[in-house]
Amino acid sequence: MTNKAVTSQSPASSHDGTIVIDSAWWQSAVGYQIYPASFADSNGDGIGDIPGIIGKLDYLADLGIGFIWLSPVYTSPMVDNGYDISDYRAINPIFGNMDDMDRLIAEARSRKIGVVMDLVVNHTSNQHPWFIAACSDRDSPFRDYYIWRKDAPANGSPSDITASFGGSAWSRDPQSGEYYFHLFAPQQPDLNWSNSALRAEIHAMMNWWLDKGIAGFRMDVIDLIGKRPEEGIVADGPDLHRYLREMHEAALAGREVVTVGEAWSATPDAAALYSGPERREVSMVFQFSHVTRFWDERFGKWKPRPIDWPILKSLFAEWQHALHGNGWNSLFWGNHDLPRAVSRYGDEGEHRLSSAKALATILHLMEGTPYIYQGEEISMINAGFTSIDQYRDVETLNFHRIQLAMGVSEADFFAGAQANSRDNPRTPMQWSSKPNAGFTSGTPWIAVNRNYEWLNVEQDRADPDGVFQRYRRLIALRCQHAVIRHGDFELLLPDHPSLFAFERKLGAEKLLVIANMSRQETAIPPSGIPQLHASDILTGRMVSTEPGIKLGPFAAMATWL
Ligand code: GLC
Ligand code: CA
Repeated sequence: MTNKAVTSQSPASSHDGTIVIDSAWWQSAVGYQIYPASFADSNGDGIGDIPGIIGKLDYLADLGIGFIWLSPVYTSPMVDNGYDISDYRAINPIFGNMDDMDRLIAEARSRKIGVVMDLVVNHTSNQHPWFIAACSDRDSPFRDYYIWRKDAPANGSPSDITASFGGSAWSRDPQSGEYYFHLFAPQQPDLNWSNSALRAEIHAMMNWWLDKGIAGFRMDVIDLIGKRPEEGIVADGPDLHRYLREMHEAALAGREVVTVGEAWSATPDAAALYSGPERREVSMVFQFSHVTRFWDERFGKWKPRPIDWPILKSLFAEWQHALHGNGWNSLFWGNHDLPRAVSRYGDEGEHRLSSAKALATILHLMEGTPYIYQGEEISMINAGFTSIDQYRDVETLNFHRIQLAMGVSEADFFAGAQANSRDNPRTPMQWSSKPNAGFTSGTPWIAVNRNYEWLNVEQDRADPDGVFQRYRRLIALRCQHAVIRHGDFELLLPDHPSLFAFERKLGAEKLLVIANMSRQETAIPPSGIPQLHASDILTGRMVSTEPGIKLGPFAAMATWL
């Protein structure tokens, strides 16, 4: 069975006629993340589902994406919306059944779209049969699939690690009186990757899915699987790369699949280890330097700082250089854990459309595989919730309790949640101005953003100057031009407070990209940018980069040099 999903495998002819052979299909493809509960509901129960996704494949094919990253649809008690899996080989009935899944894979493939499954193997649900067996019998072979200690962690010891969703990472199992380790909710016990039988089970499960014809895996918090809790090591542990290479050998080698590891700890050096072409680990990682760089030192994501563009530009440039020829970048603004791109990096008000297009333009014209999070292609914005009972996310609800107990005011907590709660990107996809944005005929599991009457697919997609058409154009350009996929990157005007400008170069093919990432009109400075009058390859309009020429708020352009 071949997993060659997607875009053309044939040699790509570049702008100046040079022939460049792409090394892998996923280097010219664009990914699209679907958060299934919030995408499209086919049966009116208020929860998006697999048949709903199938109904939208023509829409995704029109956008031009090469693969879907499907957030988890496996059987799950849904404590963390499916990132707590109780059966890796079954579909959660709220999303459909295995026939629906097989149909999704086949229907997507017939439109040249691959389906990338979410591989959540740092932990299982506490309802997984392995954990149930591990708890009910200390001598069960499954006991060692998890991480145990006899004593409560002593305050201050290295193993006194806290869980991402608040509280200690050690919870007491009442049956044995011992403590098990969990980096997320207590209902998400961490797997013990030092157990080789466990690793073999995971590899077998991966092969089972790959044999169905999926296009690869997004690997949830994969940088945590090499952990050594007793030594206080959580991310980037000593065995991590050994496990990844073993996994590659056991499940991925010889298949033309894409793999992307979620790695909050990744530095450029680490990313080269994960994604170096000779390393045989994963295709690329999701790294989060552009996200965490602007979090508060003490309150983290709950107290975000404004974006500093010179810093953000230098981060992107650093990653572009570090992995050029030496690995591969993923490119993204948002996902199901992060705020909406325009709300965080652009302007969700007056300049929503232009900022969405500017963000798309700079990201999609860099080297790497871009990912679009559902709704980003029509510039959906943060949820705008005003009361705690509108939130559904386990992390948000836990931190509401924890921070209020710490003395944080309700108003301060809400300011943080409105900016950074994981529910911001999880409101239903806005398809039309029909009730509930055309997402469901029933009651949605989480409130639809009130702006759906004027912000929806039907309306934006019909606008030739809209956000959807900009994404569509950018995706097509990436397929057509090798310079976008593989060209050198050079940041221009590195210290400019708001102009994000760079050049891409491959042989004789040279691209200039300029965006004004501010609400103010901004003049092209006297030097630092090539001067030209040329047509913008995004809009076909003539543009000029002469000093003094003013770029409007969030104006963005790209021209051949
Ligand atoms: C990843 C997922 C997030 C989930 C967590 C635990 O960060 O993206 O949604 O809660 O892992 O699985
Ligand atoms: Ca449904």
